[in-house]
Amino acid sequence: MGIRFNKKFSSFHLKNEQISYQIAIVDNKYLSHVYWGKAISESCRGSDFPIKDRSFSPNPAGDVTYGLSMNTLPQEYPGHNNGDYRESSFKLTYSDGSFSSQLVYDGYEIIKGKPAIDGLPHSYVSDSEGAETLIVKLKDESSECRINLIYTIFNNYPVITRSVSIENFGDESIQIDKLLSMSVDLDHSEFDCIQLPGAWGRERDLVRHPVYRGVHRIDSKRGTTSHTYQPFIALTNPHTTEDSGEVYGFHMVYSGEFVMNTEVTEYNQTRVQAGINPEHFRWTLNPGEHFVTPEVVMAYSDKGLNAFSQTLHNFYQNQLIRGTYQYKERPVLINNWEGTYFDFTEDKILEMADRAVELGVELFVLDDGWFGKRDDDTTSLGDWFVYDKKLPNSLKLLAEKIRAKGMKFGLWFEPEMISEESDLFKAHPDWVLKAEGRQPSKGRNQYILDYSQKAVRDNIASQLKKILDEVPIDYIKWDFNRNMSEIGSQSPGVSDGEVTHRYILGLYDLLEDLTTSYPDILWESCSGGGGRFDPGMLYYMPQTWTSDNTDAVARLEIQTGTSLVMPISSIGAHVSDVPNHQVNRWTSLDMRGHVAMSGNLGYELDPTKLSVFEKETVKRQINFYKKNRNLIQFGTFYRLKSPFDFNNETAWQFVDLEKSQSVVFYTVILDKSNQMRPRLKLKGLDSNKRYKISSYEGLFHGDELMNKGVYIDPPLGADQKQGSYQLNGDFRSTMIKVEEVR
Ligand code: GLA
Repeated sequence: MGIRFNKKFSSFHLKNEQISYQIAIVDNKYLSHVYWGKAISESCRGSDFPIKDRSFSPNPAGDVTYGLSMNTLPQEYPGHNNGDYRESSFKLTYSDGSFSSQLVYDGYEIIKGKPAIDGLPHSYVSDSEGAETLIVKLKDESSECRINLIYTIFNNYPVITRSVSIENFGDESIQIDKLLSMSVDLDHSEFDCIQLPGAWGRERDLVRHPVYRGVHRIDSKRGTTSHTYQPFIALTNPHTTEDSGEVYGFHMVYSGEFVMNTEVTEYNQTRVQAGINPEHFRWTLNPGEHFVTPEVVMAYSDKGLNAFSQTLHNFYQNQLIRGTYQYKERPVLINNWEGTYFDFTEDKILEMADRAVELGVELFVLDDGWFGKRDDDTTSLGDWFVYDKKLPNSLKLLAEKIRAKGMKFGLWFEPEMISEESDLFKAHPDWVLKAEGRQPSKGRNQYILDYSQKAVRDNIASQLKKILDEVPIDYIKWDFNRNMSEIGSQSPGVSDGEVTHRYILGLYDLLEDLTTSYPDILWESCSGGGGRFDPGMLYYMPQTWTSDNTDAVARLEIQTGTSLVMPISSIGAHVSDVPNHQVNRWTSLDMRGHVAMSGNLGYELDPTKLSVFEKETVKRQINFYKKNRNLIQFGTFYRLKSPFDFNNETAWQFVDLEKSQSVVFYTVILDKSNQMRPRLKLKGLDSNKRYKISSYEGLFHGDELMNKGVYIDPPLGADQKQGSYQLNGDFRSTMIKVEEVR
């Protein structure tokens, strides 16, 4: 267990009970990737890589093994303009304008635990016995800079994290044009690549395709991770399924512009890389300064995608998420956004709160429109004081009244934005993010505040703290409703190439301050739904509004894609009105409830408009959820039927840690005439335990439920009309409770 250096063969072995990762130093100089995968015995060899001279692959100068070439050697952090024609992992421009580089080995250090990455979110261990860290020191052959590769292996997870630091110990400044967080060369290309692309309203679509010759890139040039791509890719075997096969996953703990490459070469090697996107990035590293990259989580599974997701869920739950709510059950909330949009009064909110509390709701969230003079999305961002036309009796009084009804009170903010029509803009037009000499574009009628400037952050912090100190607030929804453009700072001395990263560092700095100063607040991140649902934000805020699309059918794919990488306790899911506001679809209240109960349940509608029947159904949903939310939010999650594989059907299962309780939600989207459904096989139970299942007579053995399965045909929702005997209806779903019988 841990990290060993084999002196005889000049190789490192990072190992726990589940995985091994091996690196060798070839010819005493060059760091080479050897192996990553299932745990293997302590190494008794160095690099096995067959060095062979290959045409058009240059050989480095000096006393090296005949045939050695940077173009074919599997590497850990390849240089630039050095005879490796694949993608480099970094590019530096030196004061004389040169930009070639070749790193050579210069020692190592092994430390217990995992050092923090200052200013950036990172996974952590609370006990230094939980992980070990290897720092491999590399020097550029002909410049005065050092690059350290930082690897941590965790005892209890098939996970390695990587990041990189660079130090300028010369007398001249160095320009960093590119400094990725990791690079690894795998020795074949028999892989599928899985990624999670999306757009507003349809986040994290699961897309799978074979890797192919050339470079395949996903990235963000939007200043933030964005809806477009999750900062995640996985390579799997072509035959990998939910329950078998290998998965190599890469996930960045970063909320800014990122890049992830897979490159298949002429020798069918596959290079995988991840880091800050070099597109807008230029950083000046002055003498004596250092720079650290964001972290990449590298997780491995040899048991398919379900096991892979469970690893990431547990890892993020235990080693990334922090604070009061890390393991605390999340309250059932109601959010007024789809119920009222901007059009509400204090009386309306209180009336909604009265109805909500009767249903069993625990937290009332007042969304956009409560501040400045905000009647629509054209004004007031930046003016974080109460809009007295709508709430004449103060926010404090409203919060107190809602709390007196027995609910918590939550509030929406969009603290990184500024409207042209706002007091803040009038006072500080120079706080808008904008490149010199350019007119900034508007997005949703608003500009972005320049969080690279401390004065800007201080102003927002003091406005927010004033409210948080006055008003009893239990929850905050932190929104971000556009992407960056014309990126630059109006503050003197900050070059355009540093702005996006400095912005993200500024955001993290403010979030660290606020979340630690108000530790009992439940912080939920949001960016037009799930546009910034990334591990970086998860470090500060334990949950995210998954998507603005609340349609239950659309949510099947959105939540399945999200579940590939994000823990269930982080996935906000709300029941909304029909016809749905995003896609105009009618679905049954049962289906909407079951889909939303598969995350952190909330309601986003006007409860004063619910019928008696709907109220009873909602009460039952909330009641059931409260009894089972611990196992849903913090249990083990299985995709039994993924909508990406089964199209018309989705089945999700949650199992508690003791394997004595389980909940299954099973949904059919469109009906087909005269359909016969096979047995549904459950997962994750104890083979030797006996279970009873809701709405079934008799007992089942765990192995029976997992191997033989049970016939389940989701019934028509109670609010749906029965069709003919062979056509039951669309949008059907069922919920099954499985309980151990001793
Ligand atoms: C974003 C959020 C929504 C809502 C609106 C308010 O779109 O994702 O949930 O808060 O902003 O303007």
